[in-house]
Amino acid sequence: MKKAFITGIGGQDGSYLTEYLLGLGYEVHGIVRRNSTPEHQQSRIDFVRENLHVSYGDLLDVSGLERVLQKVNPDEVYNLAAQSHVRISYDIPQFTAQTNALGTLNILEAFRNACPEAKFYQASSSEMFGSAVDEDGFQRETTPFKPVSPYGCSKVFAYNIVHNYRNAYKLHAVNGILFNHESPRRGSNFVTNKVVKGAVLIKKGMAKNLELGNMDSFRDWGHSKDYVKAMHKIINHSMADDFVVATGQTHSVREMTDYVFKQLGLDYQEYVSQNPNFLRPEELTYLRGDSSKLRSTFDWTPEYTFHQLMDEMIEFWMEKL
Ligand code: NAP
Ligand code: GDD
Repeated sequence: MKKAFITGIGGQDGSYLTEYLLGLGYEVHGIVRRNSTPEHQQSRIDFVRENLHVSYGDLLDVSGLERVLQKVNPDEVYNLAAQSHVRISYDIPQFTAQTNALGTLNILEAFRNACPEAKFYQASSSEMFGSAVDEDGFQRETTPFKPVSPYGCSKVFAYNIVHNYRNAYKLHAVNGILFNHESPRRGSNFVTNKVVKGAVLIKKGMAKNLELGNMDSFRDWGHSKDYVKAMHKIINHSMADDFVVATGQTHSVREMTDYVFKQLGLDYQEYVSQNPNFLRPEELTYLRGDSSKLRSTFDWTPEYTFHQLMDEMIEFWMEKL
């Protein structure tokens, strides 16, 4: 039985990856941070318990990371833990850099000491591209990084240190450069889930309006369920390499909002207003990923379309609320 170790196991991707790997017959281990309300901490993985082993740990605690990796002795390590909210990275830039940049260095060091023969996956992000777009309107593995947020900057450090450790210490350490991916398990302060939850509350008469930030940015949105399958393929490639994971389609926040409200029989213009608190000091305006390297190397193609993804999220909130 193969063993996987996941940081950020309680997050959106951690939970889908856990389900996927358990389905493949893996023994899955992971760490969660100490939290004052432990009841909610593992809500995304509470329903899967067999062959799942969760312990306390933190990317900022190197000795704890090394101890747990030595004990588990995994075949695959997925570093998914992060302060993953871009706007909030402006409020807590140092914490974001400590967790996402130095935290990645911490887990890499622990990995190098405890299980250097294993494979290492880093959750890199399309936010690293920032303002850079190739002439054909796509971002791909060769597009330069011009990050426009503390979060993006922290992820560039993590991406580079993974490269450095791969080459310097001959580690099987890889980057998946994932474009935005969503699901009903997405944190409700990211724009897709915020819009869906807000629109459903309005539909059910439980809210009167919805406040958003910039509605004119474009994102390449896929489903987390499809993207965790790509993570598993990328880490198990015969040689350590980096891959973009994206749908290749892009939609504006406005178009996404319009679609969600229309599905509920509503006109978004009657309910949505702009609140400057949700604007960012510098905005990443456009993302559209070219994942042809991934698609030609592996048998991977997303199963969910943009509309199926949004419909699943609407259905989830209609039932939940
Ligand atoms: P998420 O739902 O925010 O999950 C992040 C997880 O990291 C949470 O379980 C969080 O635990 C944990 N964490 C935060 N700080 C930690 C620390 N210091 N030590 C240990 N654990 C810590 O994010 P996601 O959407 O699943 O994304 C997974 C990864 O992919 C992240 O690294 C993200 O930056 C990256 N990524 C995401 C996307 C996307 O569109 N979703 C795209 C590209 C890259 P708490 O609950 O205790 O905070
Ligand atoms: N969160 C949020 N809240 N975003 C809003 C809002 C709002 O009220 N109104 C408009 N937006 C816009 C943001 O300005 C941004 O242009 C877009 O919606 C998407 O915002 P998020 O859903 O917060 O995601 P993100 O693109 O900033 O970051 C996500 O994707 C990255 C990959 O590109 C996160 O998952 C990152 O962790 C990930 O790396």
